[in-house]
Amino acid sequence: MAKDIAVPELSCVPVHVGVIMDGNGRWAKKRGLPRKFGHKEGVKTFRAITRRAKQLGIKYITFYAFSTENWKRPKDEVDAIMKLFEKNLDEVKDFIDEEIRVRFIGDRSALSESLREKMQNTEKSSEHFTDTTMILAINYGGRDEICHAVKEIAQSVKKGELEPSDITPEMITERLYTQDIPPVDYIIRPSGEMRISNFMIWQSAYAEYYFTDILWPDFTVTDFDKAIIEFGDRSRRFGGV
Ligand code: IPE
Ligand code: IPE
Ligand code: MG
Repeated sequence: MAKDIAVPELSCVPVHVGVIMDGNGRWAKKRGLPRKFGHKEGVKTFRAITRRAKQLGIKYITFYAFSTENWKRPKDEVDAIMKLFEKNLDEVKDFIDEEIRVRFIGDRSALSESLREKMQNTEKSSEHFTDTTMILAINYGGRDEICHAVKEIAQSVKKGELEPSDITPEMITERLYTQDIPPVDYIIRPSGEMRISNFMIWQSAYAEYYFTDILWPDFTVTDFDKAIIEFGDRSRRFGGV
């Protein structure tokens, strides 16, 4: 249990950590199991890492759970993942007991009514917590999110409220799902893939990256600590000197 592992001394903690939870399918395949077992196992890691983030004093942690491109997968896998979301939102009470704020980003319109309702209720019942916010990205795509923001701006231009020459990057930031959440500082991707796969492409403009070959279900609290410790050694310049 995360509670039993001593919290490391940290010189610098990222404000916002992003996690691309990848490698569930390969984890199951290695064991001769259907892919959905990997997703089920991955939920355990997700829970442990969320708790650890709070212990480490991380203010925001976003987990990429389902992308706008993941609908391309076989229907039985997509159904199993949606079922897991439903089940785990029923159990998310634990997070609320632990005073973790829960938020969701992504296009909810494609999700079931019951899932959307659970998402809304969870957000509502945890909105007063201020230490750590856990953001779950479901049916999330960075391009889709930017496109949505651009459509809103285009509407303002059409109505004559805004001149195209007055459009600023801030106006786009303010219209993203993450409008009130700081940009992501550190993106952790397990499973050996070294790509971003449409995750927070606007918000990650100056993010640092951490890649590891460990598959998400095998990723432990100690692996997470190690990643966060490494962040302290990064020298960020944001274009300056
Ligand atoms: C990540 O694991 C979970 C989702 C994308 C929903 P994968 O299912 O992508 O696992 P691999 O990459 O096939 O091993
Ligand atoms: C990224 O993983 C999406 C999530 C973890 C939710 P994928 O497995 O979908 O990414 P690709 O297809 O390997 O780029
Ligand atoms: Mg994958």
